Amino acid sequence: MKHFRGLFGRNPNHDYYILRHCEEKSDNDTDDAVGTGTPFMPMRFHWKLLLLTVFALTTIFGLYLSTKPSTIARSHHVSSVYMETQQTTQNFIHQEIHSNCQGSDCMPVIAKTKDDEYAAYFVPAKEKINPFYHTFLKDGRTICREAAHPFLLILVPTSPSHSKERNAIRSTWASVAKHNQWPFNRVPVRVKVVFILGRSHNDTLYSGVEHENRIFNDIIQGDFLDSYNNLALKILLGLRWTSLYCSDVSYILKADDDMFVNIPVLIDVINEYDKRLSHNGLILGNINSDAKVRRVGRWAVSKDAYPFPHFPPYAYGNSYVISANIVSRLFSRSEYMPYVPVEDAYITGILAKSVEAEHYNIPGFAYWLEHKPSPCDFVKNKKISATKVSPDYMYYIWDKMHTLDVTC
Ligand SMILES: *[C@@H]1O[C@H](CO)[C@@H](O)[C@H](O)[C@H]1NC(C)=O
Repeated sequence: MKHFRGLFGRNPNHDYYILRHCEEKSDNDTDDAVGTGTPFMPMRFHWKLLLLTVFALTTIFGLYLSTKPSTIARSHHVSSVYMETQQTTQNFIHQEIHSNCQGSDCMPVIAKTKDDEYAAYFVPAKEKINPFYHTFLKDGRTICREAAHPFLLILVPTSPSHSKERNAIRSTWASVAKHNQWPFNRVPVRVKVVFILGRSHNDTLYSGVEHENRIFNDIIQGDFLDSYNNLALKILLGLRWTSLYCSDVSYILKADDDMFVNIPVLIDVINEYDKRLSHNGLILGNINSDAKVRRVGRWAVSKDAYPFPHFPPYAYGNSYVISANIVSRLFSRSEYMPYVPVEDAYITGILAKSVEAEHYNIPGFAYWLEHKPSPCDFVKNKKISATKVSPDYMYYIWDKMHTLDVTC
């Protein structure tokens, strides 16, 4: 309630709080959203009325401000709401230009400049602005030597404490990397799986990872701290690793450690799209084509790193495929462009657009808000990938896949 005390006084938080609430409400409507901010507090009836009135007044005032060019810059929160209402980056740019222009001539001229600004963002800088100085604590350089020309390399970002997840993946859907076997099916291509970890300060975990890697030889580890914030770094490390030590692979699959992936179906899909593979490369997945950029919360991106209101199309990060011909280009682009700490939007959106990769939206790739799958989805090959799968559930699905028949 504190926020509302100065409703007609000059409480500087007031506008912010209401507008923020408005942004969060609209966040929940969008497909890529997770609520990030303060929960809205329950109020008695007359407060709601008052709030509505004030909100309406604020909106009108905001619209008035946003049509006045001189005030756009200083009314940040108003203009951010204004921005949210635009459908696409281009629309937003044209709208803003419109409000800035009086004469009939200035609009197309400035519009071109603003479009150029968007296009220019994806052109790499002349010099490295984000040099990748990280090194490998474990470089797994022999992993790909065991198999000449693997077709598919599976990159699983995971953390030192997730040994249960790694073991479940090794024993179930990624066991094709060892045996080329799938329930009632043989996988006719070479598959490799590697787990990408950061560094842990915990000695117990550290020696656990050492031990695990001696047994399985499938871990690559970067010298940066293992954290969710470093997820994009893990993938960059994986791209770097692929171009250094597994460069003759054809495709890479990135999959989180709570995913179950139907490898034979995935390989069929890749083979189908392989016909369209060009020098520019391709990205397969569940494509999010109009995602809003967040400025607060877990997926916050600064305007310095990415100034536009929407990301270019990108594949949801839980599982996606990148053709290996662009892996080293994607990695090197990262050094000449700003770092954006949202793994999927950055790697498969921004960097991919910069190398002009083609995106293909493939039904069957997991959508991140999906519920956990039923084993039957995999027996009937209805899914390529599914999310929210615990280690125990991976074993359960794998087991069922050997016993259920397609009428399940
Ligand atoms: C290190 O990790 C182990 C295993 O997860 C845990 O039991 C232990 O409490 C951790 N130690 C410290 C100092 O955090």
